[in-house]
Amino acid sequence: MKLSIKKMKTILVAGMSLSILALVILFQSNSQAAGTTAGDGGETFKAKCVACHGADGTGNTTAGKAMKVPNLKSAAVQGQTDAQLYAAIAKGKGKMQGYEKSLGADKCKELVAYVRTLK
Ligand code: HEC
Repeated sequence: MKLSIKKMKTILVAGMSLSILALVILFQSNSQAAGTTAGDGGETFKAKCVACHGADGTGNTTAGKAMKVPNLKSAAVQGQTDAQLYAAIAKGKGKMQGYEKSLGADKCKELVAYVRTLK
């Protein structure tokens, strides 16, 4: 089989377009997977919670120590039900304000899921 230069160019261009398409699809499925679970909760946690609870959730911050925040990885916290954690985050507990009004219920649920990833 003899291929003309023109045909070879067409095949080359088609092949390259296919690879680009494959890359785009790969990239999209990756970013979708990251967008589901507690990923968004992580962003909210960084923005609203680390000042007291610390990036790792242990409460090892100046404000955290001053307020004696519980270690979110501890059995005392992880042993609670999702509903109990939700109530603390949404309605507040002790010196911690509630976040349902400012963040909305969905974000508070994501935060519960995120707190679960800290253990
Ligand atoms: C101003 C400091 C502060 C900030 C900001 C803060 N917390 Fe807290 N958090 C506390 C303190 C203090 C407690 C302990 C409350 C108590 O048991 O009296 C606590 C407790 C908790 C608990 C455990 C509740 C329990 O029953 O043991 C969870 C879960 C929690 N916080 C999640 C969050 C999340 C999620 C955010 C961000 C939306 C957040 N906190 C922001 C101070 C803070």
